[in-house]
Amino acid sequence: MIDIRDRVRNAALHAKITTAEQAAELIKPGMNLGVSGFTPAGYPKCVPLALAERIKKENFKINLWTGASVGDELDGALARVGGIARRLPYQTNKDIQKAVNNGSIEYTDLHLSHVAQMSRYGFFGGKVDVAIIEACAITEEGHIVPTTSLGNSASFVQSADLVIVEVNTSQPLALEGMHDVYVPLDPPHRLPVPIVNVDDRIGTPYIVCGPEKIAAIVACDIPDGVRPLGAIDDDARAMSAHLIDFLNKEVAAGRMPKNLLPLQSGVGSVANAVISGLVDSPYENLTVFTEVIQDGMFDLIDAGKLAFASGTSLTPSPDGLKRLYANIDEYRKKIVLRPQEIANSPETARRLGIIAMNTAIEFDIYGHVNSTHVMGTRMMNGIGGSGDFARNGYLTFFFTNSVAKGGDISSIVPMCSHIDHTEHDVDVFITEQGVADVRGLSPRERAKVIIENCAHPDYKPMLRDYYERAVAATKNAHTPHILSEALSFHTRFQETGSMKIK
Ligand code: COA
Repeated sequence: MIDIRDRVRNAALHAKITTAEQAAELIKPGMNLGVSGFTPAGYPKCVPLALAERIKKENFKINLWTGASVGDELDGALARVGGIARRLPYQTNKDIQKAVNNGSIEYTDLHLSHVAQMSRYGFFGGKVDVAIIEACAITEEGHIVPTTSLGNSASFVQSADLVIVEVNTSQPLALEGMHDVYVPLDPPHRLPVPIVNVDDRIGTPYIVCGPEKIAAIVACDIPDGVRPLGAIDDDARAMSAHLIDFLNKEVAAGRMPKNLLPLQSGVGSVANAVISGLVDSPYENLTVFTEVIQDGMFDLIDAGKLAFASGTSLTPSPDGLKRLYANIDEYRKKIVLRPQEIANSPETARRLGIIAMNTAIEFDIYGHVNSTHVMGTRMMNGIGGSGDFARNGYLTFFFTNSVAKGGDISSIVPMCSHIDHTEHDVDVFITEQGVADVRGLSPRERAKVIIENCAHPDYKPMLRDYYERAVAATKNAHTPHILSEALSFHTRFQETGSMKIK
């Protein structure tokens, strides 16, 4: 058994060190588990694996609440034994996606900044019964030093009846000091979140817990199941170049300072590529106020371009993780991890004037965005933090390749099959084809720039044709649509697998 006594600095708590199997026995059927973890970083691994084994034998379900997506040892293992009744607020696991889309898991897809408060109020069917938190260490006072993410952990610990701490020895102790834990009071007692600069620290470097609440401590050495990022391809490079060109013009027009405004960047390969592109840009002294700190941010720090990054999780690729651990003392000076309630807070996003950059599955000619549902019905991942930032940023971008599935599907459509972000939330759309700046435009004006600047040439004629017929059919209505046809683009994807003009 791994010896974690040096990491459990409260000696009285050594008596609570136990096995993952014994800790899993504390979990009863139907309980609400509030678990650490955010975009597979900082989630417990050994206790969930033991719980999955128990569920396999005893056949029961629990409700799983996390920060965001977590690794296969938690989401995958529990989904495969049918152990999850309700899952929230975000996931990226294929087994969870299958269960969500065949009705065997109820999935509550939420703005990530909303989760902690809603869980404190009991809106998800009661309060947290058991919090399971991955830790680097436990302090002398019995408080928890988190690992590579903070997510909703502090709030879950605060409201849980009991806490299981999984001390992970693969997580370096040098992570201590990177966190800034602040849990706001609930209305009507809430105060302004006192962050006016991205590097402001307003809380404690640990999650307040206390020894009495800790029911079990388990040793684990399984590393975060981080995933490789897709290679940066020509399309991603083109989107990044369009972004930098656009920002150059904003700076030249005096609408932004020379080091821009704090950057927020979404998850995935496109988002990472866009951030990496800033390495070769003229910008220096950049700041980041985001959710997920991916490899591109390490590139910016290494290039001496990034002054400071605030997030809620460190989600590098496997290579990025090695880089993080090798250079952690340097990165720690430039990174803070906050609870997602603060990292994604609409109040701070609006105050700091962030540049919000997220990826869409599809957007429509009038500027609505679908981030979550393929063909309007099948859940992909979830809205994540995109809505927290998109609506409240100073300047909101959405990126996507103009086509998907090798060109069989246009990502620009007449009417989104599902809408996560409305026409009122987005300022600029970018595809590899170009940039549509829709600030201040009416729907009819937006349709023209979105089709002409962002759609793929194969699909422009169909989109123009739809728009012109919709204008005629509605006699120039504010938002021209032929409702009987608006979603037929999607029907054609489903019926033929292709809508390409041959
Ligand atoms: N129609 C159908 N499927 C589409 C599509 C479209 N218009 N556009 C993309 N897809 C599919 C891709 O084919 C791929 O499918 P696969 O998993 O079967 O290969 C999948 O969607 C992911 O697309 P990809 O091109 O790899 O993009 P990505 O990794 O950049 O992810 C999102 C794109 C939208 C799924 C992802 O950014 C997301 O989940 N966003 C919502 C949450 C969010 O924005 N969080 C950040 C807040 S900080």
